[in-house]
Amino acid sequence: MRHFFSTLLVVGSLAGHIYGHRQHTPSNYDEAPVRARKTLGFGPAHPHAEYHSTPYQIRTNGFTPMDPSVDPMDVAKVFIEDVLGQTAPNMSYKIREDSYTDKNTGVTHVYVRQLVNNLEVADGDMNINIKNGMVISYGNSFFKGTAPSPQAAFEEGSNLFRDPRTEACTSAREHLRANRQSYADQYVMGTHEPIPQDVVQVIDDNCASAFDPPSFASNDLGDFRPALLHFMHTATPNAELSKEIENAFEEFKNKMSVTPVNHLDSGSQGSLLEYTAENVPDAISPVKAKLVYTQVPNQAGDATDLQLVWRFEVEMQDNWYEAAVTAQAPHKIVHVVDWASDAPIPTPEEPNAATYNVFGWGINDPSVGERSIVKENFDSLASPVGWHAIPTANDPSLRNVRMKSSSFWRNTTTTWGNNVFAQENWEGQNAYIDNYRPDAGKSKAFDFPYDPKETDRTDALAEAKKYINTTVAQLFYTTNLVHDLYYRYGFDEEAGNFQQYNFGRGGRENDGVIANAQDGSGYNNANFMTPPDGQNGRMRMYLWNTAVPFRDGDLEAGIVIHELTHGLSTRLTGGPLNSGCLGWGESGGMGEGWGDFMATTIRANKEYSDYAMGSWAANREQGIRNYVYSTNATVNPSVYKTLDKPGYWGVHAIGEVWAEMLWVVSQRLIEKHGYSEELFPPAPNADGSVPRGDFYRESSGGSGGEKPLVPKHGNSLSVQLVINGMKLQPCRPTFFQARDAIIAADQVLTEGENFCTLWNGFAERGLGSDARIEGQTPWGGGVRTNGYAVPSVCQDDGGDDGEGKKKKKKHPKKE
Ligand SMILES: *[C@@H]1O[C@H](CO)[C@@H](O)[C@H](O)[C@H]1NC(C)=O
Ligand SMILES: *[C@@H]1O[C@H](CO)[C@@H](O)[C@H](O)[C@H]1NC(C)=O
Ligand SMILES: *[C@@H]1O[C@H](CO)[C@@H](O)[C@H](O)[C@H]1NC(C)=O
Ligand SMILES: *[C@@H]1O[C@H](CO)[C@@H](O)[C@H](O)[C@H]1NC(C)=O
Repeated sequence: MRHFFSTLLVVGSLAGHIYGHRQHTPSNYDEAPVRARKTLGFGPAHPHAEYHSTPYQIRTNGFTPMDPSVDPMDVAKVFIEDVLGQTAPNMSYKIREDSYTDKNTGVTHVYVRQLVNNLEVADGDMNINIKNGMVISYGNSFFKGTAPSPQAAFEEGSNLFRDPRTEACTSAREHLRANRQSYADQYVMGTHEPIPQDVVQVIDDNCASAFDPPSFASNDLGDFRPALLHFMHTATPNAELSKEIENAFEEFKNKMSVTPVNHLDSGSQGSLLEYTAENVPDAISPVKAKLVYTQVPNQAGDATDLQLVWRFEVEMQDNWYEAAVTAQAPHKIVHVVDWASDAPIPTPEEPNAATYNVFGWGINDPSVGERSIVKENFDSLASPVGWHAIPTANDPSLRNVRMKSSSFWRNTTTTWGNNVFAQENWEGQNAYIDNYRPDAGKSKAFDFPYDPKETDRTDALAEAKKYINTTVAQLFYTTNLVHDLYYRYGFDEEAGNFQQYNFGRGGRENDGVIANAQDGSGYNNANFMTPPDGQNGRMRMYLWNTAVPFRDGDLEAGIVIHELTHGLSTRLTGGPLNSGCLGWGESGGMGEGWGDFMATTIRANKEYSDYAMGSWAANREQGIRNYVYSTNATVNPSVYKTLDKPGYWGVHAIGEVWAEMLWVVSQRLIEKHGYSEELFPPAPNADGSVPRGDFYRESSGGSGGEKPLVPKHGNSLSVQLVINGMKLQPCRPTFFQARDAIIAADQVLTEGENFCTLWNGFAERGLGSDARIEGQTPWGGGVRTNGYAVPSVCQDDGGDDGEGKKKKKKHPKKE
């Protein structure tokens, strides 16, 4: 099947370019090479996009639901045609190959891409969730208008070439102007950081059409080079290169070499419209280019028109972009997502388990516990061969080595395995294979000293580097454990997880996490790049020069977990092969929020406590967010309406509100179901089945089929519902849709036992059933109204989860 999906990358950084990269505080270490990472992320609104979290009755043929034995793909086809009505001329769809059935819940997640005139609509997505012959929920952002005639693109004055950015730019600029002052007060540590210039620059770059060299007048739709150069001109962080492109445009254009992509099974059109380009300035690998449609708001702003664009995938030093640029001059960037976020098995002989001297699982950072020797306690379901084995065929370090009659597996004694490649990256470049990593030898005892000394500021970096063995081992350990944990909650091969080899269990391979410790490309932050399934995730952990000795982010588990959760949420939302669903605005913000929520939940104890994010690394008790996570509304007053406040424009601030909501909801689930000391499900039986232990119970309800296993306790149940919700929610979800998806996940898992608990939890923070937004923009703008109401079934004693007495809440506080 052709690959008709967007291949986007998402870079989610822990604190974005706002906090940290460029602090000009008196206590800063000016000698430290600090490089600001430029990143772009914006796109048009999809006013018609919808998400329905209640079962859909298929009208066709009068059977509702269809027989549970019907192949979910067939249910999907009937459903799609039912929803689309009579299939309009020249409009069709493709069911994407990354669709899969969740092993525990039995829900089949079907991902569909719209085609118009045989071209992909890059943001025409459906995610359809099917169980027992029934569509239980779905999202839909298909273009709903009439297909333009294939020739329309070439006609003068066609509205396909109307400037799509005007509205987005205006609203973004207004928003920025309104918030300009408050930015000066946000993200402060020590002294005041001015409004981040990058934000201003991003908007100006994209809104101004300063760059329109004469050669752009050429309207050869088939030549994407001018559009690509236009994008590189905007995207490059190198101002000199930008100037050079302006001055020597033709030269740069002619230097590119273009190769058509030939798909064995493609129609003639496909192969004419997909290329790779080499010698693209500032790109570090060949750029992929494909002619597609994308949607832009119509004049009224209530629906979309189609626009012909070149969709590029551009890997750069610090970014990995998916960008759509109008095919015809003047070239405009319509949308751009940075995949980087600034944050029956062949079993080998039983290898001897490795040991590590590390801050163990649950010890968030060096301020809350000591190191100890722990075992390679891999989960045998998630990592059947442990953490230090990798098939020779999937080992990138052997790519150029001819292996004669080598065995299938290779055991390693370094931090190199099937899930994770961990190493130093002091150079801050993209190479990793030959970078240094500790070798523990035959014993596999990763026991290295950690005793950083207080030094002169100038020596602090050299001092930190002395502990590279320790810090890489820690990063390897934490990352593997998170891999195993998320696996057990359903982030497996088919769901798009990160592994070099998939044990024949589906999904795409050769995408373990490249985990760089002490990465030289920055300070006081961390980031993660999530390309689509089948391409390596890349995590970059930085040193923090917030104290002497420098603090090493690799040793703060919460930061590592936050980054790895970008990989989880990006791969699960909209399907494994679409990395473009959490790019900006509310959805981008929730991408940050899930990371904080997971980090906080994993470090939490039975005894309730508030937690700050990143407080050790940042050397700041309150951490790197505006508030610590707390159920106490005085300590953390975040509510839905908070998103309207000045300073809540960036994804990290938005994410903080979302994480706080999830934290409150999870505490309500803990009140109801108790607390599990162990977040890891029990080890599987020899036959691969999962024992219930004290961890799971069987779902009480469920008609036919397997009954899913339900985590018994509130904290483990929260993690499960949040992860299952990611799988159910649509591409580019809003807060409302992500909330509804979590509630829908509970319906699937427990038949809705927690319906009212969940609603009450969200309502506590203004995301109740009467919450509203007017004038939502893709930038996260709009005017919100808190909603403290819950559905009527939760207002009387008959409430289905016994919480009926909790009446509609009054406004707890004004904000
Ligand atoms: C559909 O596409 C064909 C060629 O691909 C074209 O001849 C025809 O006019 C199109 N139909 C409509 C309604 O645009
Ligand atoms: C892997 O290591 C184990 C234990 O050290 C050993 O028994 C086994 O033979 C090794 N496998 C390979 C392929 O080297
Ligand atoms: C890291 O460990 C290796 C092997 O034990 C050792 O030779 C090396 O000196 C260590 N590196 C540092 C910086 O301590
Ligand atoms: C919430 O926090 C405030 C401020 O720290 C404190 O005065 C109050 O007692 C707390 N409320 C509860 C219920 O703990």
